[in-house]
Amino acid sequence: MPDISIEYKYSGTDVSGLHKWKDAADEARKKLIHKTGEGSEYLGWVDIPVDYDRDEFDRIKKAAKKIREESDAFVLIGVGGSYLGARAAVEFLAFPGRIKDAPDIYFAGNALSTDSIARTLQAIGDRDFSVNVVSKSGTTMEPAIAFRIFKAELEKRYGKEGAADRIYVTTDAKKGALKTMAVENGYEAFTVPDNIGGRYSVLSSVGMLPIAVSGADIDAIMEGAERMRQVCVENPFETNPALQYAAFRHEMMEEKKQVEVFCIYNSSVGSFSGWWRQLYGESEGKGGKGLFPACVTYSTDLHSIGQFIQDGKRNMFETMLYAENSNIEMHLEVDEKDLDGLNYLAGRPLSQVNRIAVKGTAQAHADGGTPNILISYPKKSEHTLGQLFYFFEFSCGVSCYMLGVNPFDQPGVEFYKNNIFKLLERPGY
Ligand code: PA5
Repeated sequence: MPDISIEYKYSGTDVSGLHKWKDAADEARKKLIHKTGEGSEYLGWVDIPVDYDRDEFDRIKKAAKKIREESDAFVLIGVGGSYLGARAAVEFLAFPGRIKDAPDIYFAGNALSTDSIARTLQAIGDRDFSVNVVSKSGTTMEPAIAFRIFKAELEKRYGKEGAADRIYVTTDAKKGALKTMAVENGYEAFTVPDNIGGRYSVLSSVGMLPIAVSGADIDAIMEGAERMRQVCVENPFETNPALQYAAFRHEMMEEKKQVEVFCIYNSSVGSFSGWWRQLYGESEGKGGKGLFPACVTYSTDLHSIGQFIQDGKRNMFETMLYAENSNIEMHLEVDEKDLDGLNYLAGRPLSQVNRIAVKGTAQAHADGGTPNILISYPKKSEHTLGQLFYFFEFSCGVSCYMLGVNPFDQPGVEFYKNNIFKLLERPGY
C-alpha cells in the first residue's frame, strides 16, 4: 500500500461513486504503461524509478559533493519544468535543523525581470558560487539570458577555466546551444533524457543535481517513487490513489467545475504547488479542455481568498494536500494571566491545530458548495516526496488520456515563445 491516502468525506462522493470512471481510468493507465497513447515518445518518466541511469546518478552525487565543498551559493538557472520540480523538492525538504552545510540555493532564469537577477547577484555578494543551467532545448530565452550574465560573473571572478569548473549543464545529450557550449568550454554535462519532457523530468538529472546539492538523499526519493510506481501500475482502481484522483477530477468536470484549487497547509510546500500547477495546467489545458489549476496556502489565504471559495461563484473544487505529522513540533505554554485566551490550546501540539484546520476548512467549504478531496502523506521526507512526485505525474497522464488530450506537448507555450522572438526580431523569426 502507498503512504499517500485519499479521504472523500468532504467531496460529495466516494470510491464507489467514482466507479463509473473505472474503465476509462484503466484504459488510460494501459496507454501510459504500454505506450500506446498520443505523445508516447515522452513516456520515459513512467519507468524512471526502476531504470534510471545509475552511472549518471553517481556523477550527480560527485558533482553535488564538489559544489557543496566549493560553494556557499548555488544558482539553478532554468524555467518551467527545468526548475519547478527541483525548487519544490529543495523547499519541501528544507526544514530547520535537517540539512547542514548546504550552499544557499537561488533560482534564476525563470523570468525576464532584471530586478530578480540583480537581487540574486547582490545576495550572493562575494561568496563563492556555482551554477547549474538546465534547458532541454538549450535555446529558451529566459535561462539563456540569465546564464550569459552569471557566466560572465563567474569568469570575472575565477577566469575562464575556473568558471568552467563551476558551471554544470543539464541539457540534451547531443544537440542544442547549451550542449555545444558545454563541449567547447569543458563544462560537466548531465543529460535530459530524450523521452522525458520538462514537466515530467524532476526524477531525472534535471531535478536530481540541484536536489543533491541541497543535501537531500536522492536515492530515497527514487525509492519513494519506485514504491508509488508499483502502486500506480499494478493496483486495481479500488486501491489505486492515482486512478481515483484522476476519476475524482473527471467527476468534478462532469459537475461543471472549472477550477481546481490546490490547497496546502505549510508554506514550504508552496513550490510543490507551483510544480503541480505547471504539470496539470500545461498537460491538460488544450483544445478548450481542462481544469484551471489554482493554488492557495492555508491558513494564510483563508484570510484573503477564503471568502470567495466559501461563497463566491460555485465553479470550483479543492484538492487539499497535507502531512499527517509535522517534522517540527511546538507547544504553547500555559500563561498565568491568559489575556490572549489561548490557554485552552496549551500543551497541544501546534501541528494538531493545523490538522484540525484542514478538516474544519474542508467541512466549511463543502457546506458552502465547494467539494474537496483530501490527500495526505505521513510526514515530509525524501521517501514521501518521491511518492508524491510520481503519484501526481501518473495521475495527470491518466487524467489527460481520459480527457482525450496529449499530456506531453505544449503548443501554447511554443506559440508565445515564437511571438516574443518575432517581436524582438530574432533572425529567422
Ligand atoms: O514542461 C515543459 O516542457 C516546459 O515547461 C519546459 O520545461 C520549459 O519551457 C523550459 O524548456 P527548456 O528546458 O527547453 O528550456
